[in-house]
Amino acid sequence: MRLPALSLLALALASPVAQAETVATVTSPNEVLSVELDLSEGRLAYRVLRFGEPVIEDSRMGFRLRGSGTIERNLALAGTATATHDETWEQPWGENRFVRDHHQELRASFRETIAPHRTFDVVFRVFDDGVGFRYAFPEQAAMAEAVIDDELTEFVLAEPATAWWIPAGEWNRYEYLYDATPVEQVTAAHTPMTLRTGDGLHIAIHEAALVDYSGMWLRRAQGRRFRTQLSPASEGWKVRRTLPFQTPWRTIQIADTAPALYASSDLILNLNEPNRLGDVSWFQPAKYIGIWWSLHLEAESWATGPKHGATTRNTKRYIDFAAEHGFRGVLVEGWNPGWDGQWFGNGYDFDFTRATPDFDIEALGAYAKARGVHLIGHHETGCAASHYEDGMDAAFAMNGRLGTDVVKTGYVCDAGQVERRLPDGSVAREWHDGQWNVNHHQRVLEAAARHRVAINAHEPVKDTGLRRTYPNAASREGARGMEYGAWGNPTNPPEHEAELLFTRMLSGPMDFTPGILSLQGRGQAIQTTLAKQLALFVVIYSPVQMAADLPEHYERHMDAFQFIKDVPADWAKTRVLMGEIGDYAVVARQDRDSDDWYLGAVTDQHGRALQLPLSFLAPGRRYTAQVYRDGRGAHWKTDAFAFERETIEVTSADQLPLRLAAGGGQAIRFIAH
Ligand code: NOJ
Ligand code: CA
Repeated sequence: MRLPALSLLALALASPVAQAETVATVTSPNEVLSVELDLSEGRLAYRVLRFGEPVIEDSRMGFRLRGSGTIERNLALAGTATATHDETWEQPWGENRFVRDHHQELRASFRETIAPHRTFDVVFRVFDDGVGFRYAFPEQAAMAEAVIDDELTEFVLAEPATAWWIPAGEWNRYEYLYDATPVEQVTAAHTPMTLRTGDGLHIAIHEAALVDYSGMWLRRAQGRRFRTQLSPASEGWKVRRTLPFQTPWRTIQIADTAPALYASSDLILNLNEPNRLGDVSWFQPAKYIGIWWSLHLEAESWATGPKHGATTRNTKRYIDFAAEHGFRGVLVEGWNPGWDGQWFGNGYDFDFTRATPDFDIEALGAYAKARGVHLIGHHETGCAASHYEDGMDAAFAMNGRLGTDVVKTGYVCDAGQVERRLPDGSVAREWHDGQWNVNHHQRVLEAAARHRVAINAHEPVKDTGLRRTYPNAASREGARGMEYGAWGNPTNPPEHEAELLFTRMLSGPMDFTPGILSLQGRGQAIQTTLAKQLALFVVIYSPVQMAADLPEHYERHMDAFQFIKDVPADWAKTRVLMGEIGDYAVVARQDRDSDDWYLGAVTDQHGRALQLPLSFLAPGRRYTAQVYRDGRGAHWKTDAFAFERETIEVTSADQLPLRLAAGGGQAIRFIAH
């Protein structure tokens, strides 16, 4: 907020006795961002400035604790320490092979001036394109345990902005369409919440390293003031921790453009702990197909009976198709007992160590192996999470033995209904992103890792970058994926993916399951063109990337299918070249195993003509560009299949015109010579 001098004076005269005192500051490596900590009457606040202008205004910090009151007032600075950090580390797999972690750290210690004299640190890491901060509670006589009723961390936006957000605390977890509203219309939002100010500044608020804590929701308290609202726990408090402990990092990404905002997401990974699993070369990023879309179309069923999809014969057909076209994985849903009754929110009948009688799992494991294919496991828990934990070790052991090194998990139930068995045998109900279920997911990752299995969680906890620490946390859902194209009411609109890239995808990979070349759901058209379905393989990153359509549908579109066969699922470099939130996006990624580049462009309901400099390609190198684009007259409503292929020779000095149809897209493979 910039006030004229006169009103500043008026403010000074009107303000109460105690002036805020700036007790510590820290500036990013290239002096783009700075953070200032204030104490005002013993209350702590932080603010974030960009080139000296506030982006986050004075925002209070603290906790409401059960039994022991708030930690918020009567604070004094007890000391500060700063550190410089510049390191480049290598990801075993990901959007970028190398990630630079360049930040300045400030650790400020505070102590209550009155009894019980509790102490805590706040740690800020300031990058040029974002800030992460957390609380750390050292061991201390005054406090053995923290029972947190709420965290009082605020985020006060300095400028009016448009917010792209989904509601928190609603039954469908993260599976909502994004609303784009003035920030003053947000009620309570999940993170990442993305904002764009009138001046075009792009901001995203999220968290990193959500470990043994509840997920953070953003509740708007008033105006542009948001306060942390932690996901609930069945006990009534939000989080219970023994000291010492530290909270997840609260993150604020700040960039000039939507593409730069996407790039700033590196800070989420940088704020997570390094790989704890050691050599994870057993996890191979790859594409997969599966007995899945047919279930959502209701052409086949999860349940046993005449329509059962997971039969030995049908699975062999998928394995054959995968082997023929170079897919590593075949997902099979409905392979195990438990699907015949009402499984939604009720997973007690699920067994993950036994197959249904018409699914010869041992023979299929061997059949797949002989063809270089891996079955992908499916553990739909129906939210019976404790029940799942009872059997998961045996299940993962079986998976490991059969070469099933990726397992898709599922937690289908309404929010707040995850089953947790208490020591006395009774059942409590927990939130998907509450502390207990956050810990459940970590137990699953650790159990899976013992058997060299990677996890792709549906109805998950949001991604906070834990894949750095547990690289078997391969992918997850946590947004509206392609299944909404099958049966969603409303379905996913044409702007959905251009929205996802700058909202949900800031947090990490998504198992969106693209590639429905039949363009048809269950009695409804998917709001896309054919070329856009190809572009999604580049735009929406997942190291386990599904080609979601049926083999018989791909056989009808072999020309377009070629791109799906070629596109990798692991990248050396990623560049978002152009884009606006919810409007369009152009993404280029370089293959990890070759010098080839791949490009995906998507647009909303509006057609677009873009002029794309190819300066991301290696200078001086020649490339053959295989272009897959919307045909003349293509339109998601009227002519969604209009599609054309072209092959041209290009260099990094060229400009390429990109023509995107309404609801359309474009995909390009650049083969390096
Ligand atoms: C919801 C998941 O998102 C979907 O992929 C899966 O098929 C069903 N649950 C059944 O587990
Ligand atoms: Ca889902």
